[in-house]
Amino acid sequence: MLGRSHNNLRALSRSGRVFGARIDSPLSQQPVRRKSGPYGYTQAKALVFSKNGEPSDVLQLHTYSISPSLSSKSVLLRSLAAPVNPADINTIQGTYGAQPSFTSLIGTPSPSAIAGNEGVFEVLATGDPASPIRKGDWVIPAVAQFGTWRTHAVAELDQVLKINKEGLRATQAATISVNPSTAYRILRAYGPSTGISTGLGMRPLEVGSGEWFIQNGANSGVGRAAIQLGKLWGLRSINVVRERSSPEETEALRAELVGLGADVVVTEAQFLSRQWKDQLADITNNGREQIGLGLNCVGGKSATALARSLSEGASMVSYGGMAKQPVALPVGLLIFKDIRFVGFWLSRWNQQDVTGRRHMIDYIADLIREGKFRDVPLDEVAWNWDTDISTLAQEVQGGLQGFRSGKGIFVFGDT
Ligand SMILES: NC(=O)c1ccc[n+]([C@@H]2O[C@H](COP(=O)([O-])OP(=O)(O)OC[C@H]3O[C@@H](n4cnc5c(N)ncnc54)[C@H](OP(=O)(O)O)[C@@H]3O)[C@@H](O)[C@H]2O)c1
Repeated sequence: MLGRSHNNLRALSRSGRVFGARIDSPLSQQPVRRKSGPYGYTQAKALVFSKNGEPSDVLQLHTYSISPSLSSKSVLLRSLAAPVNPADINTIQGTYGAQPSFTSLIGTPSPSAIAGNEGVFEVLATGDPASPIRKGDWVIPAVAQFGTWRTHAVAELDQVLKINKEGLRATQAATISVNPSTAYRILRAYGPSTGISTGLGMRPLEVGSGEWFIQNGANSGVGRAAIQLGKLWGLRSINVVRERSSPEETEALRAELVGLGADVVVTEAQFLSRQWKDQLADITNNGREQIGLGLNCVGGKSATALARSLSEGASMVSYGGMAKQPVALPVGLLIFKDIRFVGFWLSRWNQQDVTGRRHMIDYIADLIREGKFRDVPLDEVAWNWDTDISTLAQEVQGGLQGFRSGKGIFVFGDT
């Protein structure tokens, strides 16, 4: 967020690189620069955009300095890791549901926003020695549009959430708060209708019941999290993935998702074929086992097929639109099957259930520590002081391409 968090920044735009005191990096154990110059300013870089467009066209790497004087309610942070999520790219493109403020607080030539919404930071200094957040702690953003693609930040205490770093890698801490949290919220809150007498409400799938849910985009970060949480909570999942470039690769992906806890993995071609109806009948014991919940992050034909696969009274939750095609729904599904079509936006949940969010993040972090929740495959890009804009922007631009070997993530080293 390029707003209040920068109130106490004194921008020394495009100032040179000066070496100063060094501290140990928790990631690489490499010595890293922290302060620059005789006045204790921290040199920082951020990926910023001053207008919407394709990331490779509009992202710029801006150098600035952070004043050593911190207010009693603020902390100085060093970035450890920050992923590239589809929403970050959509935000830069201007197609996301919220836009960050464009300001000149870090001395950009024109009002700009710092990109990136998710990540983890190490606390380098606190404005108040008695602050509940201490030097060395790890924090993640507590607010949306924090602007995580930067080497350092100053944030107010209420803009960050302390995370217990014990037993976590930085890349793990940096990727809890969006994708696993989305899967958690959807599986915990949405499901089949509870009927007219209960005011047309819905209930979540019952933990331990073996109830089915079905999802497309099952190889995504959210999809993989839903598979794992579903298995841990005693639910069963049908998972739709796109074919890979060879049958062997498709089989390897299927096996990988089964290894995470998927009960059924089908390819999109199977799912969209005429045979799917019969295959689904086999899976659900001729429809006697209900599919009460569908998770859609694709849209287009895949979403329509997902809706048709649901049982009477089920809910289909759309939380993404990777195919960039509208969701077309046969009216009969609305009228005769009473299927509910709802949207989901994590940002809304984060705003409205702050305490629940805190518990959820601690819960997921515990699962990771206990080895019960596996990371999404990652494509790590080192961000050091000398890393150039083209390396960083290329990673962002590739973030929406399909068939990736892993989610892009910036891992900060010698910054
Ligand atoms: N509403 C919310 O609050 C919320 C929160 C988190 C995420 N999301 C959304 O959830 C979706 C997944 O996010 P993520 O971070 O989990 O994704 P991700 O890990 O970056 O993976 C992207 C997924 O999208 C699939 N994909 C890409 N293009 C596609 C296309 N044309 N047709 C079908 N599938 C396609 C990819 O399939 P392949 O593996 O086959 O390439 C991949 O599995 C995104 O739309 C994101 O914006 C929404």
